[in-house]
Amino acid sequence: MSSVQSHYAQLLGPVYTWMAGGWDAALARNRVLLDSLGLAAWPRGVAVDLGCGSGFQSIPLAEAGFDVVALDLNEMLLAELRGYAAGLPVQVVQDDLLNFTAQLRDEAALIVCMGDTLTHLSSLDAVATLVRTAAAHLQRGGRLVLGFRDLASQELTGPARFIPVRSEADQIFSCFLDYQADYVEVNDLLYRREGERWHFSSSAYRKLRLSAASVGALLTAAGLALELTATEQGAVRIVGLKP
Ligand SMILES: C[S@@+](CC[C@H](N)C(=O)[O-])C[C@H]1O[C@@H](n2cnc3c(N)ncnc32)[C@H](O)[C@@H]1O
Repeated sequence: MSSVQSHYAQLLGPVYTWMAGGWDAALARNRVLLDSLGLAAWPRGVAVDLGCGSGFQSIPLAEAGFDVVALDLNEMLLAELRGYAAGLPVQVVQDDLLNFTAQLRDEAALIVCMGDTLTHLSSLDAVATLVRTAAAHLQRGGRLVLGFRDLASQELTGPARFIPVRSEADQIFSCFLDYQADYVEVNDLLYRREGERWHFSSSAYRKLRLSAASVGALLTAAGLALELTATEQGAVRIVGLKP
């Protein structure tokens, strides 16, 4: 098991949806985001959701008329997605996202890798391979949509590296970041109250320091036209179009 996979299995998977603000709020945010990226105009067909988690992108895409193939390694998040996807055209697959072509019979109309999944890959080379493979398996007029955090252009220092993520009466989630040259070590800290006692757990994983420019260049090199590149409060959105 990779460190990312065990991190999700041991700490992040069970609280991921809660950490993201809860299902309803996160789903609403992603609907707005997908709409702002141009969802209404994208040709329908097969959409591949790489690192789908509990489905913040899979569900809006299926509701919008795509046949979604949703891949992730974490079985708890996939179980959540199965529940939310009942009655919708979502094929839920537990596999490494780098193996997504094994699930495709035809070219895809859309491939998304959003919610910071891209930074979970092991190296910039792995990102380049994924982008090339995605470009090769898109139909003409199809799109690759990427969303990730820009950890490259800014480096937090001192106490600013400690980030309160979400807290409620019985659960507190925070993290701190250790910046290295090519990656950031993300240390997640979880406190859960059971009765009178607080239980503490921690776990760490790496996120790549990707920039909009470096990833945009990979799309261009793979033959995709950059339809949109935007960075807002450190969140990068890239839409690549296969001409
Ligand atoms: C930050 S979450 C994003 C999930 C979802 N896209 C969202 O926006 O909430 C990253 C997800 O990628 C999954 N993941 C990371 N590396 C993966 C890999 N190599 N193959 C499949 N899934 C992976 C994790 O299990 C996790 O569910």
